[in-house]
Amino acid sequence: MSKPVILTGLRANNDLHIGNYFGAMLPIIDTAKQRAGEYQVNMFIPDLHSFTTEIDHSQLQGHVMNNARLYVASGLPLDNHDILLYRQSYVPAHSELTWILDCFTAMGEMSRMTQFKDKSSKLGDRIGVGLFNYPVLMACDILLYGAQYVPVGDDQTQHLEFTRDIAGRMNSKFDDLFTVPHEVAKQHEFFGKGQGLRIMDLADPGKKMSKSADSDKGVIFLTDNPEVAHKKIMSATTDDLASVNYNPIEQPGISNLIQILALLRGHPIDDVEQAYKGMDKYGDFKRIVADEMKQFLGDFQSKLSGVSDDAIHGAFKRSEEVANEQANQTLLRVQRAVGLRPKES
Ligand code: TYM
Repeated sequence: MSKPVILTGLRANNDLHIGNYFGAMLPIIDTAKQRAGEYQVNMFIPDLHSFTTEIDHSQLQGHVMNNARLYVASGLPLDNHDILLYRQSYVPAHSELTWILDCFTAMGEMSRMTQFKDKSSKLGDRIGVGLFNYPVLMACDILLYGAQYVPVGDDQTQHLEFTRDIAGRMNSKFDDLFTVPHEVAKQHEFFGKGQGLRIMDLADPGKKMSKSADSDKGVIFLTDNPEVAHKKIMSATTDDLASVNYNPIEQPGISNLIQILALLRGHPIDDVEQAYKGMDKYGDFKRIVADEMKQFLGDFQSKLSGVSDDAIHGAFKRSEEVANEQANQTLLRVQRAVGLRPKES
């Protein structure tokens, strides 16, 4: 890893939605396009994370390829040696380091993770151990490559903070083993954002847009038929204040639409709010957002249909070789530190 590393991954367990796209894919892909050369960009598919909640395993291979195609359609270049595209399970060091770091992680730390608490409240005792210690695997994904910048949506911030904690703890116990990723505020600054992104469900704007939502009504998938997506926006839940304003507490639905429009245009929220502030016909405002979404999805899907699977397989092969080499170096350093391998003489 001679260059600083930027890294992110998106679970392959369903189609990706616009929250995944704007929260994690676009920031890293924009950086990959503009700054590869200065940085190594790792875009990976956390397939081991895919079944921390129940999935149809016969579909997993398909979902992994689907994720890779979505990355490429979003603009990930495959012909640049500073950019790696790999599958987590093809780099066994991820699992090995997870076991080691599990032994330095407290049950209490994992139990406090909001995402775990949310999901366990639904599943009770049936919750898998994999979901419980999923942040440790995520920390290993990051630490194996010494990644400094990790673009993620707001819901993953706590896991990033845990990564910093465990890295710092291991460094003080065993000398400098790991590069600690930058603190969250610095991450936002690097990706040109004031804060973490959280796109809300269109039908229930009190909840984040999620792949595992009970209903698809409020979720716009990147592969949604553009007409269907248009309808989802036209039926988005709003409020009865009849005035377009960006106020996520009082007007979460309208604020979410303002945010989505700002992201589609690549403009600051303030600019979009100013352009439509006070507009009293929500239907008209929704139509503006819905039309732009329809256009975006149409363009995206035409790129998606041109993605070559052969190019993806080629990138996997090349990248997984490099990823294994880099990850194994870190793993060996840790194995030596914890006494699993003799110290270097
Ligand atoms: P996952 O697969 O649930 O989500 C992928 C990315 O999308 C972001 N995201 C959102 N951003 C904004 N608004 C939303 N509504 C929204 N929903 C999801 C997530 O924050 C995430 O960045 N544990 C991770 C995957 C992972 C990973 C990693 C990420 C595994 N190892 C190492 C970074 C580094 C996850 O489950 O994300």
